[in-house]
Amino acid sequence: MEKLYWRIKSELQKEADDNYRTNYALKLKDKEPLQIIRELTFDGVVPDVTVKDIENMFDFVESKFLKRKISGVGLEVGSGPGTFSSILAGRKNVEKVYGVEVCRPIVETLMPKISGYIFNGQTDKVIGVVGSFDEIELPDESVDFIFDFFSLHHSNDLAITLKECRRILKKDGFVFCFDKARPDHYEKQDLDELLDTEYGEDYKKRFGLPLGQKLTRRMNGEREYRLKDWQEFLKGAGFSRMDYFYLNKTNGGGFLAVLIKKIISLLSIRVQLFVDEYLPEKRYDHKFGLEVKNRIYTKFLNPFRKEISLVIAYK
Ligand SMILES: C[S@@+](CC[C@H](N)C(=O)[O-])C[C@H]1O[C@@H](n2cnc3c(N)ncnc32)[C@H](O)[C@@H]1O
Repeated sequence: MEKLYWRIKSELQKEADDNYRTNYALKLKDKEPLQIIRELTFDGVVPDVTVKDIENMFDFVESKFLKRKISGVGLEVGSGPGTFSSILAGRKNVEKVYGVEVCRPIVETLMPKISGYIFNGQTDKVIGVVGSFDEIELPDESVDFIFDFFSLHHSNDLAITLKECRRILKKDGFVFCFDKARPDHYEKQDLDELLDTEYGEDYKKRFGLPLGQKLTRRMNGEREYRLKDWQEFLKGAGFSRMDYFYLNKTNGGGFLAVLIKKIISLLSIRVQLFVDEYLPEKRYDHKFGLEVKNRIYTKFLNPFRKEISLVIAYK
């Protein structure tokens, strides 16, 4: 697997070095690749997820939502150990994928292992980059698609990151994100409340962090963006069109709820969007919910942890 090293600003470098994921990545280095994927990419909360589950999800999104095929040169922002970069690179029409990740040990130690596992030893279609998604050292208009799996919301300034993404995209290029868009009615106070939430002792134990030491989501590099923030920053960056879907599982809730969700999931996307207008409003009993707009039910999300904001933007 080829590796590249791009410039990283010193504050971001320090943030990455201090982040517990750096040490945690090193602890995982002798584990089986599938276990690394489950532990790091999926935070240990979807213990049975497989490569096939992720391939199915990409097939579903490509066939139902994307206006263009996933093909040519790709780039994954905040790629972690390159799980998605490798799976994307393995698709028939994809030439190569850059996995851009700021945490050096994840790229150097884990990414070759993961791409080797997914590609059966042949890893030349994945390029591991130790770098920042705010300073992508690729020429203008050199990439066909960009993928994000819960990384862009870590951006310190989404406006800057999205401008950089648009710059490297070819004329027909697009970015698609499996990420979080918080509800538009949230005020700054709601977002602050989310950011100031502390991790529990179980979380700290899992990642080998000192128990009793305060660790909030904000301190862990989380940021919170509402759907309207994503829209504003994408527009400001110059993207011509943005689509949003709230992807939901079919297997949550009681017997009747599951039955209804399964039936809805069999409908076309167009009909599901129509049906959504008549469904009861989704109520969360916590503040960590996403904007429920254009709700789509799909069994392909069932192996994942929870619902996803699918944000797609075209150059
Ligand atoms: C929640 S994790 C996402 C997991 C990752 N997509 C995966 O498949 O494992 C966010 C990732 O973004 C990375 N990250 C945060 N800021 C970054 C930046 N400015 N440039 C590149 N990567 C960044 C973090 O180091 C972390 O690995």
